[in-house]
Amino acid sequence: MAIIIKSKQQIDGIKKSSQLAAATLDFIAEHVESGVSTEHLDNLIHEYITEHGGIPATLGFHGFPKSSCISLNNVICHGIPSRETILQDGDILNIDVTTIVDGYFGDTSRMFTIGAVSAEAENLIQVTKECLDLGIEQVQPKKRFGNIGFVIGKHAKAHGYSVVHQFCGHGVGVQFHEEPQVNHASPKKSGARMRPGMIFTIEPMINIGKPGASIDKKDGWTARTVDNQLSAQFEHTVLVTDSGVEVLTVT
Ligand code: MF3
Ligand code: CO
Ligand code: CO
Repeated sequence: MAIIIKSKQQIDGIKKSSQLAAATLDFIAEHVESGVSTEHLDNLIHEYITEHGGIPATLGFHGFPKSSCISLNNVICHGIPSRETILQDGDILNIDVTTIVDGYFGDTSRMFTIGAVSAEAENLIQVTKECLDLGIEQVQPKKRFGNIGFVIGKHAKAHGYSVVHQFCGHGVGVQFHEEPQVNHASPKKSGARMRPGMIFTIEPMINIGKPGASIDKKDGWTARTVDNQLSAQFEHTVLVTDSGVEVLTVT
């Protein structure tokens, strides 16, 4: 399957879905606090998405049981919201929301902090956000996808961090995961060329320690760092325009 060049109608639909995904993260922000369970947050996310005409894409996706992924501390991604996971001072977490509106997908995630977190955690989050922003700056027609991973890898490395390579960004919009796979560490000028109308995510996962991820054997989803050190992630859905890039997961 080739990379889909989206039509005007598809772009409009994906933009609407992406805006709802971003609005959901704006909405949940005020509820993210010490003492609440990640299941409670997921319930609120489910309610918000459905009340605004959307469907949470993760719910039932290959058996994933919840309406969002909530990944704490050493969890890289795909954390399952749970009644037993209670947020505590010092925690850092990623909330990842994917919406379906009129059949179109929008996918975004961001980091949240509880109370006072360590300087190390603050720095990791800051650098990870910079990695996403630098990746977005590389989006331009005719340029190659590999440039995105090149700048992300360089920035993470300059701060002594590692880039997770077991999970990637992806084409998105008509389906949850489409071609291409967007690597977050890759050689400059490698990969396919970007063209106007392509829509994909950039979603770097950056680790303080080793880059490896290990999947929980019991739940089959939760991806943790192999050394139990912290991990952070930010994600946007972006459109290649005639002149550059438009970030779609904004309100
Ligand atoms: N939203 C995630 C991504 O950025 C995918 C989650 S799939 C799930 O691609 F099944 F874990 F929900
Ligand atoms: Co994604
Ligand atoms: Co996502």
